[in-house]
Amino acid sequence: MRTLIRNGTLVNADGRQKADLLCEDGIIRRIAPQIDEPSDRVIDAAGCYVFPGFIDTHTHLDLDLATMSTADDFASGTRAAVVGGTTTVLDFATQDRGMTMQDALEKWHDKADGKSSCNYGFHLAVSEWNDDRKAEIDRMIEQGVTSFKMYMVYPNMRVDDGMIYDALRFTEEKDCLIGVHCENFDLLNARIDELHKAGRFDPMAHAESRPDAVEAAGVSTLMKAAYLADAPAWVVHLSCEASLEEVENARGRGVEVYVETCPQYLVLDQELYNAPDAEKFIMSPPLRHAFDREALLNALKDGTVDFIGTDHCSFTMAQKATGNGDFAKVPNGGAGIQNRAEIVYTAAVKTGYIDPERMAALLSENAARIFGMYPKKGVLMEGSDADIVVFDPDAPHTISYRTNLHNCDNSPFEGMMVLGKTRDVLLGGELVVKDGELIRPNCGKFVFRNRSERPRK
Ligand code: URP
Ligand code: ZN
Repeated sequence: MRTLIRNGTLVNADGRQKADLLCEDGIIRRIAPQIDEPSDRVIDAAGCYVFPGFIDTHTHLDLDLATMSTADDFASGTRAAVVGGTTTVLDFATQDRGMTMQDALEKWHDKADGKSSCNYGFHLAVSEWNDDRKAEIDRMIEQGVTSFKMYMVYPNMRVDDGMIYDALRFTEEKDCLIGVHCENFDLLNARIDELHKAGRFDPMAHAESRPDAVEAAGVSTLMKAAYLADAPAWVVHLSCEASLEEVENARGRGVEVYVETCPQYLVLDQELYNAPDAEKFIMSPPLRHAFDREALLNALKDGTVDFIGTDHCSFTMAQKATGNGDFAKVPNGGAGIQNRAEIVYTAAVKTGYIDPERMAALLSENAARIFGMYPKKGVLMEGSDADIVVFDPDAPHTISYRTNLHNCDNSPFEGMMVLGKTRDVLLGGELVVKDGELIRPNCGKFVFRNRSERPRK
């Protein structure tokens, strides 16, 4: 099958060009100013940007909590992802206590294999760190899993600071990455107690229990651990200016740190915790203030932030209501897997903070390099996988859970006007999204990842 994309503006992290692009057998075969070779299908991309397929570095699909599972599984979540231009998700295969990493990896393959409409890889989220888990790391790498996540919070998942330090040291020479959910557990619990004792159970108290200083304290600890371990570290879902300052200080001392943020921290305000449906915004870290959004937008521009994931972890309003009016009991997480590119385009490109090349870096190339997928993914280049997004920069529309393909009855971005839209998507050279409609579901494949390229080393 040969597909020719004509007349578009091809955008890579290092530049853009008006050119045609020919795909054959799942690979980008040729890029040239004009291609007149015969093909089975021609896509006219006039007026559109043509991006390398976007990579979502942070999703939680089919995640089981003690009493419920996320509203989206791999079937629904990846349908929404690919319609939004995401051709690869990196999901967190989660090792609950008492499981092996191998158990978790096999469980996640069962959840995803044959049911995914975009490609998928796994990070391994670990809930314990000991000699048995250490002994499994090489086996994970052999199976294409080269990044791991640890939590400083959530009693059933958290590890202590010493374990984080030891994991950083242990994995450094293997060129793996350890991502950490950074919030100081003791400060957080003290503040939750304080708020409860003051009679506060409302959604705004969620934000007050874990303000920027609670996150920044966690980031600071991770930075010190990475410094001592002389190892790279990945700060997952960084949300505020105070945490950016910790990162900048650490980089100034030579720490190799990779920063991820999420669309919700670029466009949504803490005041939303006063809204009637505020539970849908209960996620951790919480939404922040205008000055944090401004700092993050500037950090996209100046290179402090490396990539943007969604942290898609969706729950229905009925699931959210099981918190019974106590912010500390509401399941944490929000839906955003479909809307990342259009939000970043609207909030950061159209406003002039970044250009389309930087958008390609933040949504695709940097993640491909950092998570061991480059140059098969992350770039429009002859020989690379034909995972391609035709993005219409002039397609204003309003985000709604009613039109999103995710399987939940809410969206944190409900009613938001965005200015551009993913029009067509090629996945491994197959046209799977045409004019915004998913025409070929279930074409996603597992992405076996190599070790990190560690571009900041
Ligand atoms: O609130 C969130 N982010 N839930 C998902 C789990 C996590 O913390 O990443
Ligand atoms: Zn998450």
